Amino acid sequence: MAVASLARSAILVATLLLFSSYVVARAMASPRTLGAPRFEVQRRHTPQLDARGDGGWSFVNYTDGAEEALIPVRNGDGALYHWLKADTDFSKLKRIVWVCHGKGRDPWNYYNHMHAALDAAVQSNQGVNEDEVGIWSVSFWNQKDTGAFPWDDSKPDGQKATSNILVWEENGWEDGQKSIYPSNVSVSSFEVLDNVVAYFANRTLFPNVDTIVMASHSMGAQMLQRYAVLGNIPETEQELHFYVGNPGAYMYLDERRPTTGGAKPPSSCQDYNDYHYGINNVDANLPYGQPTPNEDMLWARYQQRRVHYALGMADDGPGDTHCQAQVQGDSHRTRGANFAGYLEQLPGGYPKNHTLDYVPNVTHDDAAMFASSEGIFRLFVENDAQGRTRPSSLPNGLTNGVNPTFTAPDPANADRMPSGTAYQDTTVKVLTQPASKASSGSNGSSGGGGGGSPSSPASSSGSPRNAASSAVLVKAPAIPVLVFVGSAVACALASSSLYSN
Ligand SMILES: *[C@@H]1O[C@H](CO)[C@@H](O)[C@H](O)[C@H]1NC(C)=O
Ligand SMILES: *[C@@H]1O[C@H](CO)[C@@H](O)[C@H](O)[C@H]1NC(C)=O
Ligand SMILES: *[C@@H]1O[C@H](CO)[C@@H](O)[C@H](O)[C@H]1NC(C)=O
Ligand SMILES: *[C@@H]1O[C@H](CO)[C@@H](O)[C@H](O)[C@H]1NC(C)=O
Ligand SMILES: *[C@@H]1O[C@H](CO)[C@@H](O)[C@H](O)[C@H]1NC(C)=O
Ligand SMILES: *[C@@H]1O[C@H](CO)[C@@H](O)[C@H](O)[C@H]1NC(C)=O
Repeated sequence: MAVASLARSAILVATLLLFSSYVVARAMASPRTLGAPRFEVQRRHTPQLDARGDGGWSFVNYTDGAEEALIPVRNGDGALYHWLKADTDFSKLKRIVWVCHGKGRDPWNYYNHMHAALDAAVQSNQGVNEDEVGIWSVSFWNQKDTGAFPWDDSKPDGQKATSNILVWEENGWEDGQKSIYPSNVSVSSFEVLDNVVAYFANRTLFPNVDTIVMASHSMGAQMLQRYAVLGNIPETEQELHFYVGNPGAYMYLDERRPTTGGAKPPSSCQDYNDYHYGINNVDANLPYGQPTPNEDMLWARYQQRRVHYALGMADDGPGDTHCQAQVQGDSHRTRGANFAGYLEQLPGGYPKNHTLDYVPNVTHDDAAMFASSEGIFRLFVENDAQGRTRPSSLPNGLTNGVNPTFTAPDPANADRMPSGTAYQDTTVKVLTQPASKASSGSNGSSGGGGGGSPSSPASSSGSPRNAASSAVLVKAPAIPVLVFVGSAVACALASSSLYSN
């Protein structure tokens, strides 16, 4: 009797063991299995926060088929928030297109616009295959977006941001300022970009990627142009390209400024050459790698970077209205033309690794820029090593028909380091991809990571902290776009100031 019962127990235990190892094996074989969503969507939308009327997002505007994706920063202490197409198979990707919003921090729109451009690229018969391109649409949330990033008003100060998702103060992300949340992680957005590049360069995660495109429009384009000048960008085997669309202003490399294109005279603006418009006081204002190399070295390095400027020929909006921007020209278009003329007259002339496309009939419109034939080529086709290059598209010449002139060197506003300062390569390796903390064993190449696996207690708990710190992809519910009471406010704002710069 006892023996039979023991035997039955043994069989039961064995069966249970077999079954659970089957469950685990299945989970590991298909890490895409839907786990608990990282946050309850309703909790993400916090109606009382709308009442603040501060112009932030209190919700995320989910698109069917999209999921949230986090990129680890400093070994997962922080995480950068993105949207990614659900079920993206990392191992199939040959090209990454990372895209950054403008001032409006609306990753859902950039996700949709970049995917529409990808569809157009696939139709364009240039060898673009949809499942070989991964689009990461980032959001650099700011302090007004409580509810879009996890936030709990009932917690004491300093603990209200309840995940490791990185958040900035206002537009601080646009010129390398440090994040403010989570409170115990403070990291320059430029260091964050270093981490992004290193993440995509990781062959364990992305074995077949040969091209990484960092794309942006408007304020995001300002950020990337500054980063291309100042970034200690990790060296990558993959070709790294920057797409800079319609920025509101540029970082100049010395104190000269244009006198054409409606530019105001530098005398009208005392700090016109201060960072982030110029390099004066850059070390005091940029909490990143110190010290910043001198202008000659910055120029030498900037020439090597693959930068693609894109200007809407109808983008006559003033964008950034600070006096420092006004001394660069009176609109996105004229500032871009002036900057092209400026690069042309620097030592060595217009950099061979930089292109400039004027896009006819397009105004300050990221969707139209990306989906233009010029945009499609830069974003989805170009690869120098593979011979897919295309000259700049200049219907009216490099400077769009004007002949820019520049102010004379102005020692009073110059910030030159002593001539003869030795070139020092400040490039540092900042590869910070952590071993996935909540992983159930997937190496992430299928995009599922361990975060969504039902067998992982850490991830199925639904705890934002656990899931976010795993810094791997976690499935968001693929639900149709949600319409909230608060969206009317957000849309009204969005159509005015939010999309500028
Ligand atoms: C920040 O604080 C949270 C909550 O106390 C903790 O879990 C996390 O490990 C801390 N991170 C760092 C980088 O200290
Ligand atoms: C173009 O960029 C690549 C990669 O940064 C660099 O190796 C090459 O020297 C650059 N070419 C020129 C002409 O600057
Ligand atoms: C731009 O628009 C004008 C009229 O609005 C049209 O005549 C012209 O063909 C357009 N150019 C291009 C390149 O589409
Ligand atoms: C690359 O990614 C893998 C898997 O996440 C990780 O274990 C490894 O540390 C990463 N490598 C680097 C250099 O960051
Ligand atoms: C990662 O996963 C892919 C696809 O499942 C597999 O081909 C590859 O061998 C794995 N790499 C490692 C280091 O486990
Ligand atoms: C939400 O997404 C939809 C569909 O992509 C878009 O039409 C709408 O403008 C978005 N709402 C906001 C507030 O961005």
